[in-house]
Amino acid sequence: MSASTKRVIDARGVIKEYGDGSTKFRALRGVDFHAHEGEFVILSGPSGSGKTTLVSILGCVLSATSGQVRVLDEMITSATEAELPKLRLAYIGFIFQGHNLIASMTAQENVALMLALRGWNHVDAQKEAARLLSLVELGDKVGSLPADLSGGQRQRVSIARCIAGNPPIVLADEPTASLDAQTGQLVTEVLHNLAKKRGHTVVTVTHDNRIYHFADRIVHIEDGVILDDKKETHP
Ligand SMILES: Nc1ncnc2c1ncn2[C@@H]1O[C@H](COP(=O)(O)OP(=O)(O)OP(=O)(O)O)[C@@H](O)[C@H]1O
Ligand SMILES: [Mg+2]
Repeated sequence: MSASTKRVIDARGVIKEYGDGSTKFRALRGVDFHAHEGEFVILSGPSGSGKTTLVSILGCVLSATSGQVRVLDEMITSATEAELPKLRLAYIGFIFQGHNLIASMTAQENVALMLALRGWNHVDAQKEAARLLSLVELGDKVGSLPADLSGGQRQRVSIARCIAGNPPIVLADEPTASLDAQTGQLVTEVLHNLAKKRGHTVVTVTHDNRIYHFADRIVHIEDGVILDDKKETHP
């Protein structure tokens, strides 16, 4: 990664405790994490190691107990709980393991809804939603309901939705977990293209070592601590 590439995420000494008193549990124990513009980073580690907790903090879903997280020029760890949703809308596209699409809305309406939340008017939102669905090769499925799409197609709709309005950061929490191997590769390729062709900073949580070769960097976390952070050596 060249020195001139912008550091989009910069997290230092992040601690997250759940509960209090005797039930207090420290899920993150001083995590340093960074990612650059156009970088595709994979976050991996065993179940319970803190992956979802970390991406939730980076994604302005949860606040850290202590430590500092900067997203572009914004110190998000200084934000109040009430300010988090606004920061999230401005900076973050989030993709969940389950697709979280609204069942009664078509693919196009699901994507347009995110644009409406980001302040777009109805006509422009519909047009842009159709364009984004073509980008993920679903131009012929704009009018389909989630129930009439395959798992991989639904996950591609949620990718289109998450980049609607062009947030700089895309966070994906096990986006391929419910997909077969081949569909998982296709979905990962779409995420990879978001980083390489559109300059998003993409952080993907996965256990699936078959998609590790897509990564610029693989970050391993165990028991709330980053173990290593190494550059991929694949060609
Ligand atoms: N709301 C919560 N209250 C208390 N403990 C929690 C809460 N959420 C997570 N934890 C604990 O924090 C630790 C990290 O959880 P987290 O969900 O971040 O793990 P993960 O790496 O995403 O695991 P998985 O691979 O199973 O999704 C776990 O031990 C979990 O039990
Ligand atoms: Mg998790």
